[in-house]
Amino acid sequence: MNQTTHKQVGALTVPVKRQVPRQRTHDESVFPLVYESDAASRRLSDVTRWVAAHANELLRESTAHGAVLLRGFPVRTAEDFDAVIRALGVEGFEYRRSLSNAVRVNRTERVFSANEAPPDVQILFHHEMAQTPVYPGRIFFFCEVAADEGGATPICRSDVLYRRLRDRSPDFIRDCETKGLRYTNVMPAEDDPSSGMGRSWRSTLNVDSKDAAEERLRDLNYSWQWIDGCLKATTPQLPAVMQVAPGRRTFFNQLIAAFSGWTDSRNDPSEAVRHGDGSRLDTCAVHEAAAIADEIAFDVQWQPGDVVLIDNTITMHARRPFQGTRKVLASLADMQTLTFAAIEG
Ligand code: FE2
Repeated sequence: MNQTTHKQVGALTVPVKRQVPRQRTHDESVFPLVYESDAASRRLSDVTRWVAAHANELLRESTAHGAVLLRGFPVRTAEDFDAVIRALGVEGFEYRRSLSNAVRVNRTERVFSANEAPPDVQILFHHEMAQTPVYPGRIFFFCEVAADEGGATPICRSDVLYRRLRDRSPDFIRDCETKGLRYTNVMPAEDDPSSGMGRSWRSTLNVDSKDAAEERLRDLNYSWQWIDGCLKATTPQLPAVMQVAPGRRTFFNQLIAAFSGWTDSRNDPSEAVRHGDGSRLDTCAVHEAAAIADEIAFDVQWQPGDVVLIDNTITMHARRPFQGTRKVLASLADMQTLTFAAIEG
């Protein structure tokens, strides 16, 4: 994979495909694919021109490989990252229109903080918003400031996870495919940044009254209950496995994060997720899934300027705890709707 492409674009010599330490190989495909530039002092406009010229290739590669890491490019600010994302030409998915439970702060229209949860909180593997009926097909990350210690973003190929889990826990995978999942989340009345899932119901549902919240939930086919001003909401039946291409299925859900990690003063993770028919999950199989994800993960050890392009249907992400200031920004694109249909065979 060394130096397969080498082109001169304006003043910027890009890109060179590189190997990085602990890079994974799945089915002869490296994970993540890495483009490195030694042109950090060059102009941003050269980068955006190169990205725009190679947008289809980069998006295709992020689907084939699961993730593409751009390293050493002159991308320094949220505005620079915004420009790179726009050069890809994919439609943005605004955080305020999402049903994400994470508290985030917008830096530009398309760029926001990845999660405002405190540094000691570990965020477990998940596909972005796989627990809601709308999700982004793509998620992009950018490192503005790397933490003093820790703070990597582990990423994991979910198609590889699916295959290994099917071999070890075939009954559980069959239940996932035929029954799907329902997620339950208790949302506070006001944003609670001390929690990794502390987004208020007002912000999550983009409403300012209980009546409007109920109307929105009815439209989304959720069930709900009010508890002391907090809103306990349960999703409709959603898929746990996605057929992303013929012969390629991914473990597309929030199961690992929800089952073990959705915990705060309002939420009990053991209540957070059930199969679509209300039955309980096989605890051993969920732990198996988490263990496999850890086994096959690649840690993005952030360097300032790093940009990662992820196909959210293929690759899960997480966040390790950290010390010091860490500014990793995110952007979502390509809004998709999620409906359940049993997968047979
Ligand atoms: Fe996330």
